[in-house]
Amino acid sequence: MLLPLNLRTAVLCGYRTVCHGPSWRTVVQHNPRCRLWLVRRGQSNAVSEAGVHPATVPNATTNRIVGRWLIACSGMVAGAVVLGGVTRLTESGLSMVDWHLIKEMKPPSSQAEWEAEFQKYQQFPEFKILNHSMTLSEFKFIWYMEYSHRMWGRLVGLAYILPTVYFWRRGYLNRGMKACALGLCGFVVFQGLLGWYMVKSGLEEKPESYDVPRVSQYRLTAHLGSALVLYCASLWTGLTLMLPQQKLPNAQQIAWLRRFAHGTGGLVFLTALSGAFVAGLDAGLVYNSFPKMGNYWIPDDLLSFSPTLKNFFENPTTVQFDHRILGISSVTAITALCLYARRIPLPGRTRLALNSLLAMAYMQVGLGICTLLFYVPTPLAATHQSGSLALLSLAIWVLAELRKVAK
Ligand code: HEM
Repeated sequence: MLLPLNLRTAVLCGYRTVCHGPSWRTVVQHNPRCRLWLVRRGQSNAVSEAGVHPATVPNATTNRIVGRWLIACSGMVAGAVVLGGVTRLTESGLSMVDWHLIKEMKPPSSQAEWEAEFQKYQQFPEFKILNHSMTLSEFKFIWYMEYSHRMWGRLVGLAYILPTVYFWRRGYLNRGMKACALGLCGFVVFQGLLGWYMVKSGLEEKPESYDVPRVSQYRLTAHLGSALVLYCASLWTGLTLMLPQQKLPNAQQIAWLRRFAHGTGGLVFLTALSGAFVAGLDAGLVYNSFPKMGNYWIPDDLLSFSPTLKNFFENPTTVQFDHRILGISSVTAITALCLYARRIPLPGRTRLALNSLLAMAYMQVGLGICTLLFYVPTPLAATHQSGSLALLSLAIWVLAELRKVAK
């Protein structure tokens, strides 16, 4: 909607810069057309008090619907991450050796079709080196694991794309939300392509390598990292549309708390990414003691690869060491954040978010240590991976509670 030029300038540049009358906020609040404009841009939910007819979209109700959709999508992405983790931990990820968007949706149905699928798998290094005594029924198990991960991925794609089209056509999305929804849909497609790019790295013959066939740890980290970005972006956008804004004390302390919370959230994200390197290199199996690594606080093969930089991404000892340090730094930062927050009079919901984050951080570290001590059993490792999603979700919740309130 086009506003009169003077009002648009007032909203965008701050009324005070163009006029010496009452503050620009007062002007905006008393002008229904201006408030409608803010509602449409998603900067205000004040539909009814703005005197805007509730049928005008987008409005607070449609924002809530879009918010719920995005939170449901983030739940589906979380499901895909968990399923992907279990697929990797059961060593099922390399069982489907090609990729067809539509054709592969129908699983083999006859004995002959299963035999043919098994024959294809037998041409690749995982069967030749690791699974040469595998039976057809064992193959069916790993095949169905990978199949369910891929089919779930398709469902996630539809869950983003179809409602985007629907909401777009119904006018539920303002300009910012249109860009956001398009970005998220693009990201889902990218995520699928990245998944296949990762699987391909595990299917290649590597005659010069004595290692067991596995996907590249770089590609695994990229695949998990981009799933986490999609998850966080959907959850953040959904929560900011759904959570009623709370009044925070307007003090310097809040600005510090917000900055601190952003840094801590970033650290948790980095720890999760470093976990993907641990998983990708099976680095959870090199030192299975805690707090020391074997008999050492700092193992002597920590920097044994050359050049030094290579150790951080390819040396299992260094990768495990880094993950321990990052995990412990994350829990320390979260503890410090919560202690700092105690000094500030915060609303109850924000405090609940902070306390939940703190409890989850200790649980996640406990899970990580147990995963290590018990030599990475699938149920514990999968729970530890899901724990990282829970921790990230709580960090996002804290950030959403502390977000700047549009005045
Ligand atoms: C804030 C704390 C932590 C976070 C967010 C975190 C996150 C993660 C993530 C995302 C993975 C990858 C899982 C996968 O893709 O399957 C992982 C793997 C792992 N983490 Fe952590 N972690 C944390 C702390 C720790 C600690 C303190 C330890 C042990 C001292 C630990 C031990 C492990 C091990 C052994 C694995 C490999 C499991 C496997 O091979 O699947 N983690 N972590």
